[in-house]
Amino acid sequence: MSETFERRRFLRQAGYGLAAGSLALTGCGKPLEPGAGQSEAPAAPAAAAWWTRPSAPAGQHVLSALPYTPEQLTLQDAQNPALKGISAQVVTWHHDKHHAGYVKALNEIESELAKLQTIQASANYSQYTELKRRETFNASGMYLHDIYWQNLTPGGAALSQGGDLYKKIVVDFGSFDAWRADFIGTGLTPNTGWAILALSPYDKKLHNYACSFHELGGVWGAVPLVAMDVWEHAYYYDYGPDRPSYIESFLRLLNWPAADAAFGRWAASGVFA
Ligand SMILES: [Fe+2]
Repeated sequence: MSETFERRRFLRQAGYGLAAGSLALTGCGKPLEPGAGQSEAPAAPAAAAWWTRPSAPAGQHVLSALPYTPEQLTLQDAQNPALKGISAQVVTWHHDKHHAGYVKALNEIESELAKLQTIQASANYSQYTELKRRETFNASGMYLHDIYWQNLTPGGAALSQGGDLYKKIVVDFGSFDAWRADFIGTGLTPNTGWAILALSPYDKKLHNYACSFHELGGVWGAVPLVAMDVWEHAYYYDYGPDRPSYIESFLRLLNWPAADAAFGRWAASGVFA
């Protein structure tokens, strides 16, 4: 069965068509005015690089490179100077220490697990038990940060109203603004964790899920399309307790074409038909 057929079947069952529109949304959800000086969104990153990583043997995962320099995620908004993007210092710490730490820990855990006998496992306590508990924490941390960096792009990139993801958002949330409000609210709920726009294979719908830490609160099988880190290490140096301004900056920096492309690939996969 062709990819095109599968994709069209999914889109038809999801209840929206493929007619192209011309209006686009910025990362903050404002329609682009004609002649506003903002051209069509820049091309999305290469499909193979998006939220997947090369398969690696146990204990040999590598830290994904940033798709931009740490200096490129800052913003300037004379109307709202609180929205300053993400500083180079935070990007550097976040990527080189935190993200790298999850990769390093996962490698160590997988290497240690390979040496142990499962017969040693115990629900009360065993080295095997602790390693298994931390395996999902660090694996989820590694993968979610891969997505987080790919979700952002310098200056942000618009979501086309003619795109499939926009149409699916409108179908499932009622409007783009309704999705946006729910996503912001989702991002304010975890003490430490993530807000994740995900596509569920069960009801074939998009959901905004709140995730604690990295591994608690997800729905098995749901595919992340947008992952917003709301751990304090993601914003506190820049914003202090003002998480809403960090969230607003994140939304302005979103690489919507990349999320749209990821949605399209999953829709075409047949998994969600
Ligand atoms: Fe993080």
